[in-house]
Amino acid sequence: MEKIKIAGRDDLKLKGTVRVSGSKNAVLPAIAASLLTRDKVELGNVPLVKDVHTMLTLMKGLGADFHLRRNGLSLEVKTISSAEATYELVRAMRASILVLGPMLARSGKAVVALPGGCAIGLRPIDLHMNGLQKLGANITLKHGYITAEATQLQGADITFEKKTVGGTENLVMAACLARGETVLRNCAREPEVVNLCSLLVKMGAKIEGLGEETMKIQGVAELGGAVHDIIPDRIEAGTFLVAGALTRGNLLLTEVEPSHLITVIDKLRISGAKVEVKKNKIRITGSEVIRSQDITTSPYPGFPTDMQAQFMVLMTRASGTSIITETIFERRFSHVNELLRLGASIEVSGDKAIIHGPTKMSGAEVTATDLRASASLILAGLVAKGWTVVNEVEHIDRGYENIEGKLRRLGADIERLSG
Ligand code: EPZ
Repeated sequence: MEKIKIAGRDDLKLKGTVRVSGSKNAVLPAIAASLLTRDKVELGNVPLVKDVHTMLTLMKGLGADFHLRRNGLSLEVKTISSAEATYELVRAMRASILVLGPMLARSGKAVVALPGGCAIGLRPIDLHMNGLQKLGANITLKHGYITAEATQLQGADITFEKKTVGGTENLVMAACLARGETVLRNCAREPEVVNLCSLLVKMGAKIEGLGEETMKIQGVAELGGAVHDIIPDRIEAGTFLVAGALTRGNLLLTEVEPSHLITVIDKLRISGAKVEVKKNKIRITGSEVIRSQDITTSPYPGFPTDMQAQFMVLMTRASGTSIITETIFERRFSHVNELLRLGASIEVSGDKAIIHGPTKMSGAEVTATDLRASASLILAGLVAKGWTVVNEVEHIDRGYENIEGKLRRLGADIERLSG
């Protein structure tokens, strides 16, 4: 098992420039979208993270040919040779569920393992299945597998009970090849959903209302290929912005989309950091005094749940008490116990974490439980005096491209140890 070892310093100030990679949560549905056509789909700005490799292994099993290069990925699914997404792959990555809609729409059948448990919450997929049933799919669940079948999907008017990123993505993809008009209401408005929809439009789909709560999709008989760039990863960017504020440093982020980070930037400014925004660039200058504040996670454009753990670390250095309310996932405080090991002062009560600051943390051995929790432990390790060793770092590789290399170039003393 690999570990990450960090020599933390209370007076560390990160400095320099960091290039933001392409978005993990945008590229995964874009890869699944290539199932909707037999023509070639070319994706640019693809992050070389573990989840991309897992998704490509799954796609290969379904019949896809692909070429992954440093500067891009080309995919071609001339025919879907197998309709099955196995438990082994789905267990490794829940986003595998995103092949359900496009496979069903393209070939009339999809057999996908039901994703099991997850560290951050129950994460059911009932809204995906209800929506596909409303498009006329016959869905059965047996031996842990969902079987979805439909000779021809039919357009329908569907309202999501709650906002779901993956549910919106699966339904939009399926509706593109359904007969007639589909109206989707209470859609997720995340930039990753919009990036997927703009790819689908380039492939020939007819979609109105990109980025809005209601989208209208006119089904078409078939879709073609496209050339498309993946948006920058706003969560990776947010993680580095917090690193800049946390270490009272001075960082320039390049190849980033500031308009996707408005709420995060607002909160950083409230905490006292100076944030300057230019085209595809953000400069953050940390302040000596970090101010406490309350944060509530919510669907986009609200404060992203994927930034909650990282912000919690910043609030451990803030003067005063901060309350973080997690409204999206019911078990997304597992990083708290590990931060307590580093000397933070945090209490959890239901969906709220109460952070008392400022605290001086000291290095210790900790264990990551999920992707964003591992990012928060690395951030904490930067400013916890002495050595911090983060175990189970495979979580971090799922969504961050070479995070320790990027941090080292900014002045952090961080290395990866093989187990
Ligand atoms: C996406 O997950 C992201 N993953 C998550 O990022 C992110 O945390 C989440 O959206 C929320 O922003 C990818 O894009 C690959 P949801 P997703 O469906 O689509 C409930 C990361 O760290 N729900 O929007 O799975 C669900 O349980 C990951 O990069 C249902 O009840 O999230 C949750 O409480 C973690 N039934 C809420 O809705 C459903 O059918 C939002 O989930 C679907 C969801």
